[in-house]
Amino acid sequence: MSFKLPFFKTKQKSEKDTPTIEHVPRHVAIIMDGNGRWAKNRGLPRIAGHKEGMDVIKDIAKAASDSGVEILTLYAFSTENWKRPNAEVDFILRLPKEFLHHYLPDLMRHNVKIETIGNLDVLPEHTKEAVAYAKAQTENNDGLLLNFALNYGSRFEIMDAMKRVMQDVDALKLSIDALDESLFSKYLYTDGLTDPDLLIRTSGEQRLSNFLLWQSAYTEFWFTDVLWPDFNEDIFKNALHDYQQRKRRYGGI
Ligand code: FPP
Repeated sequence: MSFKLPFFKTKQKSEKDTPTIEHVPRHVAIIMDGNGRWAKNRGLPRIAGHKEGMDVIKDIAKAASDSGVEILTLYAFSTENWKRPNAEVDFILRLPKEFLHHYLPDLMRHNVKIETIGNLDVLPEHTKEAVAYAKAQTENNDGLLLNFALNYGSRFEIMDAMKRVMQDVDALKLSIDALDESLFSKYLYTDGLTDPDLLIRTSGEQRLSNFLLWQSAYTEFWFTDVLWPDFNEDIFKNALHDYQQRKRRYGGI
């Protein structure tokens, strides 16, 4: 990991709250919004925005990795996105394969590990195969964890977790008294991952849209009007820098 970015200042004795290298968010989550508007502004079909947005991912993954971020979770396809026209859904669900076809060798070189959260069962075979291949190829990498949220919805995730908790209670594998926040978290897709420290949403919208509702209880939010296809490494670094100025209190003082 290199820490050559100028905003990772070393703490001086006199600067009590100056951000240090330890302030790099371990887990950054991004709602990549604005692809459709980006395309519309250029008189292009919406899918052109998704295609452009796909290419931005590799730049931000590299920036995250270079900055010392450990986990980058990207909201690529939500459980609500099925409401879009079939052709658009079909196009978005082909992007993982295209992305991996173009960038997997580069991701391997950068020691990136690919993971997913979401219900993959109902995705097209070609999407599942591409993702399974990338996971298998990168499973021993221990650099940045690039985590795609695919067919992900927080309410479904929490409800599904609750069902499995109840099944385990019924099967006497779990005592209801043993259930606490930490144990419940193990039933979520994000089991084993730290909660996001920083959540970025592009395109001027300021809502969570069913993304990581449980996990973002103490997450710092950062919003920009920039549309996702125009998002770049410098803007990402601005978000990290902004995060480094914040003081997280987790309900304390
Ligand atoms: C939101 O913009 C974007 C999406 C629903 C799709 C995001 C997908 C990508 C950026 C590419 C995914 C690539 C891989 C490798 C998984 P929008 O269409 O809602 O934009 P709008 O609000 O301007 O209409």
